[in-house]
Amino acid sequence: MSYYLTTPIYYPNGNLHIGHTYTTIVADVIKKYKQLQGEEVFFVTGTDEHGQKIAESAAKAHKGPKEFTDEIVATAKSLWKILGIDYDCFRRTTDEEHGRVVQEVFKKLYDKGDIYKAIYKGLYCVPCEAYFTESQADEGCCPDCGRTLIDHEEESYFFRLSKYVEPLRQWYEEADIEPAYAKEEMIKNFLDQGLEDLSVSRSTCDWGIPVPFDEDHVIYVWIDALCSYLTGVGYGVDEELFQKFWPADLHLVGKEILRFHIIIWPALLMAMELPLPKKVFAHGWIVFDNDKMSKSKGNVFYPEPIVETLGSDVLRYFILREFSFGSDGNFTIEKLVSRYNSDLVNDLGNLVSRTCAMIEKYYEGEIPEPSEYLPVDKELQNAMVEAKTSFKVHMEDLKFHVALESVFGLIRRANRYIDETEPWILAKEDKERLGTVLYLLSEAIVESARLLSPVTHQTSKKIFEKMGLGKDEIREGQMKPGLKVYKGENLFQRVEPSIAEEIAEKNGRLFASRMEALHTSVEGSDTNTEKKEEIQNEETPITMDDFSKVEMRVGKIEEVEDHPKADRLYVLQVDLGTEKRTIVSGLKDHYTKEELQGKVVVVVTNLKPAKLRGILSEGMVLASGGESLRLIVPEEGALPGNLIS
Ligand code: ME8
Repeated sequence: MSYYLTTPIYYPNGNLHIGHTYTTIVADVIKKYKQLQGEEVFFVTGTDEHGQKIAESAAKAHKGPKEFTDEIVATAKSLWKILGIDYDCFRRTTDEEHGRVVQEVFKKLYDKGDIYKAIYKGLYCVPCEAYFTESQADEGCCPDCGRTLIDHEEESYFFRLSKYVEPLRQWYEEADIEPAYAKEEMIKNFLDQGLEDLSVSRSTCDWGIPVPFDEDHVIYVWIDALCSYLTGVGYGVDEELFQKFWPADLHLVGKEILRFHIIIWPALLMAMELPLPKKVFAHGWIVFDNDKMSKSKGNVFYPEPIVETLGSDVLRYFILREFSFGSDGNFTIEKLVSRYNSDLVNDLGNLVSRTCAMIEKYYEGEIPEPSEYLPVDKELQNAMVEAKTSFKVHMEDLKFHVALESVFGLIRRANRYIDETEPWILAKEDKERLGTVLYLLSEAIVESARLLSPVTHQTSKKIFEKMGLGKDEIREGQMKPGLKVYKGENLFQRVEPSIAEEIAEKNGRLFASRMEALHTSVEGSDTNTEKKEEIQNEETPITMDDFSKVEMRVGKIEEVEDHPKADRLYVLQVDLGTEKRTIVSGLKDHYTKEELQGKVVVVVTNLKPAKLRGILSEGMVLASGGESLRLIVPEEGALPGNLIS
């Protein structure tokens, strides 16, 4: 049996973080689980390297786009390596063979009449690089990311998405899409409104795969990226591989890109006359302290500091055990450290070391023969059967946290079994009974390690070795008396809860160095730095290089509120085209709320965020004058997000 699964093809416009890691670990766990079931699995992940966003990030870092993504891709690959991610294809959309096949697909659909050329006028979302109709727009905002849409006009190639409303409706009747409510939402918000044809080329950005018969256009990034699911598994490259694995059994995606995967993607496949994916699963978001990760908030969390401090299995285990796959989850390092100590050190680590130590002490390291089973033994045997059944049911259902809880239920039961049977007393009084107890404990350990192996892969291998089995023998039915046990070092070392701060600090340093490499931050705006800047300004003129570090953009003030703790400050919500930011500003003595509302202003966007009387301010609105401030206002026509140069 073959099984094909994918993660999204991530944007390498910054280093991959815990969010990307979440989907990728899940995919890897599913792969390893399916392999244990004897299936042949193909797993594609990769990077989505074309488009305006990447070109802009590269320009900021003073690099060419390919040079820029090469570096990020190298860090992504080494991250997947340390996390034990076993992908079969890392598809970069800049790969030559991918570009060739995407062009062939485009040409095929053009020849067939499913792609045609026209003028597009409409509402456009810059960061999503997508057009929306009036009815799809959510009060002028993007239905996917919530940012303000702009009026835009360009010559474009279009994909006849409108033709696929009914075929999509039919597909929804049988398609396996999670969350289950998503289909209804798509039908109500998109299919029932009628789909507009989709603009699938850009003439405003040249960082992309050229339209093969029109050099003024490049192919829209989403068409390019979605096709990775085909080219990654051999479409147009290795026909045998493709035939073996297509259609995909599972596309794993975050909920924000589900629409692309259950409207545009199946419609494209229908146009290509290819079979449709069997399942699309959209999972929830990982947030930090209930806040979305963002570079401007400075709360991006990377996996490397966790792996470096506690090992990769901890992160793999935590991410699956802590969150219910599908729902949003709040990630804290404190919770991770606490689960490490309680589940891995206490429950699993202790069970293995206590059992191995007793086998070494009482049986010279050889797993003894069992004899007659008493009710307490049968209870442990039942717990093994139950854990195995429940694990399988919940893994198949992608309910990882329940599946893992089933195994840890068994592990805790086995620890209790030691307390109940008191092997140290049996060692003196009843050696035959002791043999049964230690045999059953060994069986419970091997069974738990086997079940856990898709998740805690390294640890399971170590356990197999300790229990006298080859580390590559993670299969059912390996346990037998006579295996040579070796206690060795403990699997996990207990850590102090304060290690959480150490990890957070490491992450902070990594974040700062990565932002510097991406040139997305300037010096902090805390008071010390402000003073340093004042002194510097008095003494030395700045150079062009200094000035070019300051990023200014056009912003539109969308909301104005009084600062709850400061009489002279407003809290503004400013739309920057690609995002909305909170900016605390001292304009209260100079403007009424009504005067500010809707004003188009100039914003310094790459200041380090600073807390002003308890509210994080993510930028600065420029004004002139001292006593009486007047805003600096761009001429009419400037759009939120435009760079000021
Ligand atoms: O959307 N919590 O790339 P992307 C959980 N290139 N998952 C998260 C997450 C978080 N906080 N942050 C990111 C793109 N993810 C396109 C995809 S596919 C043909 C093209 C994960 O770099 C999650 O899987 O923005 C989400 O869908 C994906 O990363 C977005 O990655």
